[in-house]
Amino acid sequence: MQTVDVAILGASGYTALELIKILLRHPNVRITAATSRDDAHPLVSDLHPSLLGRLDIRTEEFDADAIADRAQAAFLALPHGAAQAAAAPLLERGVKVFDLSADYRLKNPVTYAEWYGAPHADTTNLAHAVYGLPEIYRDSIRQAKLVAVPGCYPTSVILALAPLLAGDLVRETSIIIDSKSGVSGAGRTPKLPYHYPECNESISAYNVGKHRHTPEIEQILSDVSRSPVHVIFTPHLTPMDRGILSTSYAGLTRAINPVALREAYREFYADEPFVRIVDQAPATKHVAHTNFCNIAVHVVRDRVVVVSVIDNLIKGASGQAVQCFNLAHGFAETTGLFG
Ligand SMILES: NC(=O)c1ccc[n+]([C@@H]2O[C@H](COP(=O)([O-])OP(=O)(O)OC[C@H]3O[C@@H](n4cnc5c(N)ncnc54)[C@H](OP(=O)(O)O)[C@@H]3O)[C@@H](O)[C@H]2O)c1
Repeated sequence: MQTVDVAILGASGYTALELIKILLRHPNVRITAATSRDDAHPLVSDLHPSLLGRLDIRTEEFDADAIADRAQAAFLALPHGAAQAAAAPLLERGVKVFDLSADYRLKNPVTYAEWYGAPHADTTNLAHAVYGLPEIYRDSIRQAKLVAVPGCYPTSVILALAPLLAGDLVRETSIIIDSKSGVSGAGRTPKLPYHYPECNESISAYNVGKHRHTPEIEQILSDVSRSPVHVIFTPHLTPMDRGILSTSYAGLTRAINPVALREAYREFYADEPFVRIVDQAPATKHVAHTNFCNIAVHVVRDRVVVVSVIDNLIKGASGQAVQCFNLAHGFAETTGLFG
């Protein structure tokens, strides 16, 4: 049986923990390296006590040669900026890269600089990065050396709206998206808004009209639609550990029966192992700790209202990264992702 040795960069973070948990049950993977900037080189199980006895390798500082000696693939669970600094030397050494950060998602480096506040430092690799949403880009992911794993909000929103835009069923400039995320969406590094007394028993909107996932959503939906899509996207922080619920509203181009619309969604996603079109109201608990995206679609007056839920750390990050890894290595797409 083929085994791929993999490295996890940024091993102390939340997405890294989920990656490790998934990869430990993957029959074709061996985790051979884990990086952290902590110069005490803790064991991975010191950083994540739930892994005690399951992965007792010591973390190391990032060194591209050392990683390339021991791994054929690397998952970058790093902040943007740090990810591109690691991706370029790894790719040069023939290591396949699955980047969970935003560094390779936006095709236009000018847009990246505008939204992320710094010029892109690796435009050469950016040019051949593949957006890692299997439901839309499966064939390209199979050939990819560098996969830009989508953001959590964009995954929930793009999957919810793609059937409408692909079928020319809604007006491209009529889309309004209201999304709610659990606190783990902000990562493990402590920051004031995510401090327990600040966010518990409270819900807040943030970055209204200027969240960095806006251009990512627009880029992919425009590609699906084959014409420019503009959205209004408002994210909210909600007092739960994990999960995203997105409610998307769009103006219909023609009258459509709700039953026919639901059927069109079922047809669009008929062969997708991780997208479920549901009749009951979606809840984040229905997909927590899974790689599923549940979608419910409704017609209300002359609009369509789509509610979608994912686990931000799994379908919104680590599960999707492994789904892409499976495609890029010729493994069954669902390997490691059920159970
Ligand atoms: N959380 C989510 O729901 C989610 C969903 C989709 C995508 N993402 C993206 O996935 C990436 C990882 O997210 P996360 O939530 O796992 O973050 P996290 O919990 O904050 O972990 C990131 C890890 O990267 C390391 N790190 C931080 N700054 C660094 C730097 N300047 N250079 C090198 N290493 C650095 C840190 O480890 P050490 O201090 O041990 O070095 C940190 O534990 C981010 O780009 C994030 O935007 C997150």
